[in-house]
Amino acid sequence: MKIITRVDELKAACKAAKAKGSVGLVPTMGALHEGHGSLIKKCREENDTVVVSVFVNPLQFAPGEDYEEYPRDIDKDGAFCESLGADIVFHPEPEEMYPENFGFRVTPPDAMTHILCGITRPIHFTGVATVLTKLFNLVAPDKAYFGQKDVQQVAIVEAMVRDLNMDLAIVPCPIVREEDGLAKSSRNRYLNAEERKAAVVLSRSIKKAKAMVREGEKDVAALLDAVTKEIQAEPLAKIDYVEILRFPHFERDATLVEDSFIAMAVYIGSTRLIDNSFFKED
Ligand code: PAJ
Repeated sequence: MKIITRVDELKAACKAAKAKGSVGLVPTMGALHEGHGSLIKKCREENDTVVVSVFVNPLQFAPGEDYEEYPRDIDKDGAFCESLGADIVFHPEPEEMYPENFGFRVTPPDAMTHILCGITRPIHFTGVATVLTKLFNLVAPDKAYFGQKDVQQVAIVEAMVRDLNMDLAIVPCPIVREEDGLAKSSRNRYLNAEERKAAVVLSRSIKKAKAMVREGEKDVAALLDAVTKEIQAEPLAKIDYVEILRFPHFERDATLVEDSFIAMAVYIGSTRLIDNSFFKED
């Protein structure tokens, strides 16, 4: 496995790999865990060459967010990627991705960003779309792998690829969870022991909504009310949003439909965690 830090070197290596077979890309910000691991494994199964990018993208963090604190450990991440059979890890410095006078942005449509995480993080998805456009141009992958954990990101990336005629397939992968239901996240390491216990309220409240649906409830307002109350009963939790929307255009329906999903962002102490699930799943 090779760790590449320069864009010209990455481009040359991927061009050579593409001449020999298929190339898959797993974009990450590092602090890798089993959630990322599931994407890398799937990419390994489906491609001749596996590229993992490890880059904490400054463009997708607003001032006051956790860009500086975001955990970085390239030795550990590199070893993790190697253990899963990755061929290339791309780990550039910010200046390599965004040299002086870099100014272009890829901006998703308002309808996809003026909702869910885009409300508290207004510049976030422009930063994500911009870095992914660069990574797709550098690697020219046949397929790129994304976790459903970031459901809004999946919808936006799929729309970007379609709208801008990018020549690759987006492969969404299921959420990997801890044993108690908490979705694995690099940000879970910000939680102290007490907060870690409280954090299970996100997945627990989703389970509650799904149990209600199994009992016949289809009314979105009733489901949102029950989920909100469940979260509010946890003293360390503070709701940013809880929504039930239709994938992939985020319509608000009064009654559940085939593609309805529940999504939430909840502060546990000062750590903002997200979770979601489709009602048609399990
Ligand atoms: P990051 O948060 O590191 O996540 C990288 C990929 O791993 C994303 O597609 C995310 O959805 C997926 N992932 C994270 N936790 C997961 C879990 N518990 N189960 C399944 N998949 C999971 O998302 C980003 O980085 C960035 O926005 C990025 C796309 C790399 C652009 O900078």
